[in-house]
Amino acid sequence: MRLRRTLKNIAKSGQLAKVLVSGKWHITDAMIKTAQPVVARKIDGLEVFIYKDAQQVTERAANEMIAALKAAPEPKLGLATGGTFEPIYAAVAELAGKRDCSFSRATTFNLDEYVGLPPEDPQSYHHYMHHHFFSKVDMPTDREFLPDGMQVDPKRAAAEYDDLIGKNGGIDVQFLGLGVNGHIGFNEPKTPFDSRTHVVELTESTLQANSRYFQDRKMPTEAITMGIGTILESRRVVLVATGAAKAPIIRKIFEVEMTEEIPATALKGHPNAVILLDAASASEAFER
Ligand code: PGA
Repeated sequence: MRLRRTLKNIAKSGQLAKVLVSGKWHITDAMIKTAQPVVARKIDGLEVFIYKDAQQVTERAANEMIAALKAAPEPKLGLATGGTFEPIYAAVAELAGKRDCSFSRATTFNLDEYVGLPPEDPQSYHHYMHHHFFSKVDMPTDREFLPDGMQVDPKRAAAEYDDLIGKNGGIDVQFLGLGVNGHIGFNEPKTPFDSRTHVVELTESTLQANSRYFQDRKMPTEAITMGIGTILESRRVVLVATGAAKAPIIRKIFEVEMTEEIPATALKGHPNAVILLDAASASEAFER
C-alpha cells in the first residue's frame, strides 16, 4: 500500500520499518508480538502501521497497552472510549490474564466525560470504563480517573483534572480514538493545539455520530475533555482507527499539514506518535 499523496517519494511498498524506539520510551519488537503490518512507515513524523483487518489492529493496540504497563514501575496510562476501544479492552483483559500482568501499580486517566451524566448512567464514560475494562482487570479503583461531569462548576472540574495529571507526573502512553471529523478526545475542529483540559460544546458531527448510543434520549451537548496541549505532553501517543467510516478523515490527515481544522494533525508535532489503522480506514489515503 502506498500513500496516494506521495506515491513517488515514499519508500517502496511492502517495506517494513522497525517499531519505533525513541527517547526515553522503549517499546521493542519483542514486547509487541503481533501480526506483521502491511505498511510500517514514518509519514509526516507519524509512525504509521496498517494492518490487514481490525482484529490485527486490536491485537497490536492491546499489546501496546500491556507493553506500557510493563515499561514503568508505576505506569500512567491515558485511556479512550468509543466503539474502537471495546474489543481492545477485552483483548487487554485477556492478555493480562494470560501473561500474568497486573494493573495494581497503574494509574489511568481517561480523555473525556459528558457533562451532566452521573457515573452510573449507562452512557457515561465512567460506566463504559467500568463495564469494558476496570471490572475485568485488577486496577485499584482509587487510581482510575475520569473528568467529573457532575461537578456544579464543570470548568473548575476540567482545571482540577488537568492539575491531577500534572501532579501524577504526566501520562506515559495516551491511547486515542478518532472522530469522523478528526477529533481526538472531544477536541473538536478549531480547538487550539495548546489547549488544556476544558469544557466543550459538541459539534453536530459528533452529536450525530454518538447519538446512536442514546437512542430515544437526548444526548448531552457538552463534555469535559483533556486538551490537545495536555494530550501532546504524553510521552507516547497511540491513535487507533478502524473501519471504512474513518477512511475520509484518515486521507485528510495525510493530505494536509498540521491544522487546527483537523485536531488529529496535532500529532504530527509529537516526537513519539503512532497511528494504527486497518486496511479499511487506510483505503482512501493509501493505494495498493
Ligand atoms: P468510535 O469513536 O471509536 O466509536 O468510532 C471514536 C471517537 O469519536 O473518538
